[in-house]
Amino acid sequence: MPAMKLPTITVLPVNCVRGTIVCPGDKSVSHRYAMLAALSEGQTVVENYAPGADCATTLECLTSLGVHITSVPAESFGQISRLEIDGCGLGNLSQPAHPLNARNSGTTMRLLAGILAGHSFECTITGDESLQTRPMKRIIDPLVSMGAQVTSKNNCAPLTIVGGRLRGITWTPNVPSAQIKSAILLAGLQASGKTTVCETVSTRDHTEQALLAFGVQVERGENWVTVEPGGTLRACQLHVPGDISSAAVWATAAAALARSKIELTNVGLNPTRTGILDILRRAGAIVKSEVKKTVAGEPIGSIHVRYDKLRPIVVTPEEVPSVIDELPILAALATHPGGGIKVTGAQELRFKESNRITALVAGLNTLGAEVRELPDGFEVESTKPLVGGTVDAAGDHRLVMAFTLAALGASSPCTILGAQIVDVSYPHFFETLETVRS
Ligand code: S3P
Repeated sequence: MPAMKLPTITVLPVNCVRGTIVCPGDKSVSHRYAMLAALSEGQTVVENYAPGADCATTLECLTSLGVHITSVPAESFGQISRLEIDGCGLGNLSQPAHPLNARNSGTTMRLLAGILAGHSFECTITGDESLQTRPMKRIIDPLVSMGAQVTSKNNCAPLTIVGGRLRGITWTPNVPSAQIKSAILLAGLQASGKTTVCETVSTRDHTEQALLAFGVQVERGENWVTVEPGGTLRACQLHVPGDISSAAVWATAAAALARSKIELTNVGLNPTRTGILDILRRAGAIVKSEVKKTVAGEPIGSIHVRYDKLRPIVVTPEEVPSVIDELPILAALATHPGGGIKVTGAQELRFKESNRITALVAGLNTLGAEVRELPDGFEVESTKPLVGGTVDAAGDHRLVMAFTLAALGASSPCTILGAQIVDVSYPHFFETLETVRS
């Protein structure tokens, strides 16, 4: 069943949410598996590849770079989709006939830039209007320091890269970012000598886990990771865990609405991503998670969330990287009775698919919330139920889900403009909502 195309959607309030959900494959993990498969020797099979537009964009770019990919799509939502990717071998991608288009996907652009830095042909990579405003100096600087030539438009996309003959570096990104870390490590695969990335605050480690799965030598300490160049990536059989950032929406809805109970199965439980579960516990919910298996270094299991009296919470700057994509839904949680939140140290939200602080605060206030914008975060007080209204998703999939979560507790319907952008990470989001509405 194709996902519903919804330029605008009206969300009706619910009493509670109840049921079991299988979430789509993880977006971050899917990008990495496709890219490393492209660089490996032999055919990699990836099951449960993320169905969203961002991950389709990565496949499109890889195809333009000469990679042969066969996709067996899921017949209906909830079913597993499968990819067969014939690797070209490290350094063997071909010069594309046209500029690559990463569309809305920051991960595609930044990680591919790292890979392209290892190739000697000239290649331009651009994106949609939103991506063309997002900061790229953070990857340009390390890649140039490794020896790549990168030209940009004021440190934004389009980026034109002429790579090859890289040298290994040691780099400490000035913002905690898995995308920067990954771009450097991927370039490091083709450098002479080791490449090390140091982090002041840890970020998601899917690249490190995926590199190990493809047979690359990776060494890690508490705040650093080193990649050894020179090896061959070996094709493998992979299964993408369900996306915890998608699962988080339903877990958070259960924490927000009295009498709710949600079970999430086949979810990724990588400890660099489970910060949301600790925060929901602090907000009062009863949260249990259980790892059932580990595939390619990624723990996979189930999450159970049951409503208990909602409480106000504080998210500290150190916690931000572990819940960077969940902060909008935590703001929405805080609008429900008993809630409240203060988030600081999250200025990175201003450089996501939208200026997520300004757009989130504007939208929630339009629906009747009391939200204050801070330079590096926001503060929500839950004083009265939301009244509903019309909000703009600002071209940002995470805001569609956050506004929906807020709307579930409003006294009147809420209309979300531009709701189809949810397809970027969760094409069947609104159909799934109908399965748990109670
Ligand atoms: C991602 C890392 C995060 C996250 C993004 C996906 C990744 O960004 O916000 O949605 O796949 O590496 P940064 O860690 O770069 O801020």
